[in-house]
Amino acid sequence: MEKLNREQALALLKKYNKEAFHLRHALTVEGVMKHYAATHGYEEDAEFWGIVGLLHDIDFENWPDQHCAKAPELLAEIDAPESLVHAVVSHGYGICSEVEPEHEMEKFLFASDELTGLIWSYSLMRPSKSYKDMEVKSLKKKFKDKKFAAGCDRDIIRRGAEQLGWELDQLMTETLVAMAATEDDINAQCAEFED
Ligand SMILES: [Fe+2]
Repeated sequence: MEKLNREQALALLKKYNKEAFHLRHALTVEGVMKHYAATHGYEEDAEFWGIVGLLHDIDFENWPDQHCAKAPELLAEIDAPESLVHAVVSHGYGICSEVEPEHEMEKFLFASDELTGLIWSYSLMRPSKSYKDMEVKSLKKKFKDKKFAAGCDRDIIRRGAEQLGWELDQLMTETLVAMAATEDDINAQCAEFED
């Protein structure tokens, strides 16, 4: 278990990320990562997995052209351990980084990052605006509909599932469960910077 605490991580996130969309994404991936840690035998590391999720896009808002390349320098400000830096950089594997996800934590990050974006986009067009009553079956239809949330790269999501050795179905089901479980908490945290 690493020494870094969540308060420091959140302060760094807010220093480099001001847009509500990016903050919500960071908190969402934090929630999903914590949930994955807790449900896949890494209970003791759940806080750390969460911090990895919270900080994975730390450089994206200000340095979109240096995504994953700028991150190590920013993470050094809080003396982030190598395991955190490696995980953050590896989430761009094959996109903006050549560092491959190795640890299971890194594979979960890679697999869920893009998918949370797709699930979030879909939630916005549903009457409830919630993940809690979203069905995997309907989500799969949106996944197949190339016109829907065209910015969410389906190949990255597929690749993420493969790296975990999972079927896409399992990845969607578990990520949706994780997002539903953390939804209220994240909405409460987002109320502070969203109108
Ligand atoms: Fe992300």
